[in-house]
Amino acid sequence: MIISDELKKRIRNAEVLGKVCTPKEAASFIKPDMTLGVSGFGLSGYTKVVAKELAARAEAGERLNLTVYSGASTGDDFDGVLTRAGALSCRMPYQSNKDLRNAINEGKIKYVDLPISNMAKWVRSNYLNHIDVALVEAAAIDENGNIIPTFSVGASDTYVACADKVIVELNTKIPACVEGIHDIYIPEPAPYTKPINILKPNDRIGTPYIPCGPSKIVAVVESNIPDKGIIAGEIDAETKKISENLVSFLKNEVKEGRLCNPLPPLQAGVGAVSDAVIKGLVESDYTHLNVFSEIAQGSFLALAYAGKIDSISAAGLAMSTEEMEEFYRHIDHYRDKIILRPMEISNSPEVIRRLGVISINTAIEADLYGNVNSSYVGGTRLMNGVGGSGDYCGNAGVSIFITKSTAKDGKISSIVPMVSHIDHTIKNVQILITEQGVADMRGLDVIERADLIIDKCAHPKFRQALKKYFSKAIVLSEHLVYPYSEEAAMMFHNGEMEV
Ligand code: COA
Repeated sequence: MIISDELKKRIRNAEVLGKVCTPKEAASFIKPDMTLGVSGFGLSGYTKVVAKELAARAEAGERLNLTVYSGASTGDDFDGVLTRAGALSCRMPYQSNKDLRNAINEGKIKYVDLPISNMAKWVRSNYLNHIDVALVEAAAIDENGNIIPTFSVGASDTYVACADKVIVELNTKIPACVEGIHDIYIPEPAPYTKPINILKPNDRIGTPYIPCGPSKIVAVVESNIPDKGIIAGEIDAETKKISENLVSFLKNEVKEGRLCNPLPPLQAGVGAVSDAVIKGLVESDYTHLNVFSEIAQGSFLALAYAGKIDSISAAGLAMSTEEMEEFYRHIDHYRDKIILRPMEISNSPEVIRRLGVISINTAIEADLYGNVNSSYVGGTRLMNGVGGSGDYCGNAGVSIFITKSTAKDGKISSIVPMVSHIDHTIKNVQILITEQGVADMRGLDVIERADLIIDKCAHPKFRQALKKYFSKAIVLSEHLVYPYSEEAAMMFHNGEMEV
């Protein structure tokens, strides 16, 4: 087996260097019905080579029936390839792949979606399957056989710690200078968990590598395939206005003394809408921003290039191919600003609460009471999952949801009588922002919220119908404190409330 010079340079442990093998040989360690713990988060740092071999085996008739736990989203050359080959039986805790989503919605693959900060702890606590094999992408292996991840950590640290065997895809396309940006820390088990000692977003508390050791690594394959990456959010008229509304809300919070200046750390969730909205902050006069988030989208890097960011802490980068190439060009200048952590730490409720994070996540729809649906279109079709919004919403200092006021080319209102699926309840959602305005629901009861959301957030063409719905709901529910009526809601959705 010919080993490239680059691979020899990056594998600094002789025992591990001796385990370099072909993708087929590496894949042979993965047997039917196994549970894999894989790297990948925000479509970065996922493995690309071994999946092809597994898919080929599945396509040749082997019933692999694999359970796959990841950090979060992996690319099409992992989730897509394995789904299309029929190699998966169960997937957790987050995904964003079209074919995988369809297979989940058709009931072909079991999917368990949860606030992702729980995942690693659930694995360590044996609530879930034992990890047979950890399959992780790495940029290097150090002298002691420890793993230097690429541009995401996700839950790889726990998967490596718990796995019987570790397979490494060493990606020589990833700049070697990624080494040093990670901060790996696994909390002690409850009830002896010590405080997570992050007092500032850029505090380091762990090691710059995933502890492993040479004996656990059974195979290393070379990879030079780049992450496919996300589709970057484009600023349009609506996201520009949402961005302006966000900035004016934050400015007013500072003016009223409710937020400090510079602002507390920002978190922003996945998706084209949030990426575009955060990009809009480049035009703002904010400086010395810090990010404590689960993903660092291109928008945060754009803020860094504009000189507005002091530090970025995340569990993974989430960028388009073009943004990734630009980042590589600037990497020497910006790598000291970035810390990549396990998602259990990036999404730790304890740290989010301590830092008073301003969380900005996207809703598929929100209702007049302030409940938010981020994961199931129409209440039944999975989009991606609740992801880290489930960790941030209830613990953030300021919990903001953004959405365009309409969806599907303006045909439907994103503000509805009652959400069809509840991810975030009236109890945790504080602020709702659309291109129409800002609804600050803190301290408001249900009646006050409904009026405010209709006036500030609903699209003008749906306001009258929503008002009619709510008046009818008050009557039909006999003026109860939480006036809801399914009958009136159906009338709204059937267009019977329109004037
Ligand atoms: N009714 C029906 N469909 C809707 C809708 C609504 N009210 N609102 C959005 N959609 C559909 C869009 O049409 C689009 O569908 P398509 O892909 O078939 O075109 C899809 O949902 C995505 O919407 P888009 O407007 O492009 O938003 P986005 O890319 O910003 O994604 C979420 C929005 C909510 C799906 C995404 O943010 C998400 O998955 N959130 C949950 C996870 C999370 O918040 N994690 C936070 C920490 S990273």
